[in-house]
Amino acid sequence: MELKPINTFTYNMPRSGIRRIMDNATDRDILHLEVGQPNFPTPPHIIQAACEASTDGQGRYTRYTPNMGYPSLREAIAEKLKRENGINASIHNILVTPGATYGIAISLSVLLNRGDEVLIPDPGYVNFSMLVPQYGGVVLRYPTLESQGFMPNIDTITKRITPRTKAIVVNSPSNPTGAVCTEEFIRDLVDIAQGNNLYILSDETYEHIIFEGKHISPGRFDTDGRVVSLFSFSKSYAMTGWRVGYVVASDTIARVLEKQQEFYSSCAPSVSQKAAEVALRDTDRCIKEMVEAYRGSRDLVIDILRKHGLFSYRPRGAFYILINVTSTGMNSDVFADRLLEEQRVAVAPGATFGEIGGRYIRVCMAVSEEVLREGVERICSFIESHRR
Ligand SMILES: Cc1ncc(COP(=O)(O)O)c(C=O)c1O
Repeated sequence: MELKPINTFTYNMPRSGIRRIMDNATDRDILHLEVGQPNFPTPPHIIQAACEASTDGQGRYTRYTPNMGYPSLREAIAEKLKRENGINASIHNILVTPGATYGIAISLSVLLNRGDEVLIPDPGYVNFSMLVPQYGGVVLRYPTLESQGFMPNIDTITKRITPRTKAIVVNSPSNPTGAVCTEEFIRDLVDIAQGNNLYILSDETYEHIIFEGKHISPGRFDTDGRVVSLFSFSKSYAMTGWRVGYVVASDTIARVLEKQQEFYSSCAPSVSQKAAEVALRDTDRCIKEMVEAYRGSRDLVIDILRKHGLFSYRPRGAFYILINVTSTGMNSDVFADRLLEEQRVAVAPGATFGEIGGRYIRVCMAVSEEVLREGVERICSFIESHRR
């Protein structure tokens, strides 16, 4: 008997282009520039805190935690939000999540009703475009342009607002472009959201990885609970595998997030929460060292691109750069597949990040200098030899 079809949307959902490249890039000689994660280990004192918590002999930190997360961690987060982000939140406004990935999903599940439109950047982080429709929403894209360093433009966004628009997604510093929004833009964005009664979903996963400019959180200008802020421990503290992040939201939204957490995951991993607490209290120095290393990598890539006449913009944060491949006549998927096969370099096809993204490949610069130098040289030669 033929079984009834499973969920139509997820069944038909395209696989991420990055995953395809990763699956095909298993040979040992391949240079990996496709995956987006720090090339540093988690700082030892954070690991030590997790070891101590998990071996205290009483199992205090190996059980379910409160749905919202340990109060001690949320207190440390509240202090950090005040100190670094200018956000005044009580621990009742903070939900600790298994990573920002999950924070995005649970926030959308709480915000959206069927037919609500969500404005997301193109190029932009893929999870938003994949998850919005799963919660009944409709994705509308707002373009960001290479000629403007991929900075979002307030008029471009405003023009796309309709009576059905529910939320605007902003991601600064951006994956995949590395653009960092200015304070003026963030203030305007909050004004626009207030004027049109919209929510802002602010993905601040890369908040600490800034080379020029300053990280400005929309939440600091929020006066009426319309900003939902998403944070992560993954990139700042090289903790991608620990799965810990947090959502900051108004009382109303936070109470629903708390209910929803019960059914989605109960809580974020207990031991990771203990590690995260130590990360927040004592890690400024390691963040600085990592950011300086990423800055060096960014500058190296720009030098190589300049040498080949391929430089077009300077990422001001995160650890990614987009390289335009339109001169080859190939779309980003074909380019990435052929680059892998012919040059043994794995990169992320930009089509994963949107229609405009399809003109680019994304290089993750959080790799050793040797791999980065060789990988980007090969990309440049490949573009030169296939230029139309
Ligand atoms: C923009 C953006 N948001 C969220 C995430 C998810 O981070 P986490 O590891 O906290 O789930 C990533 C990870 O690459 C990201 O690039």
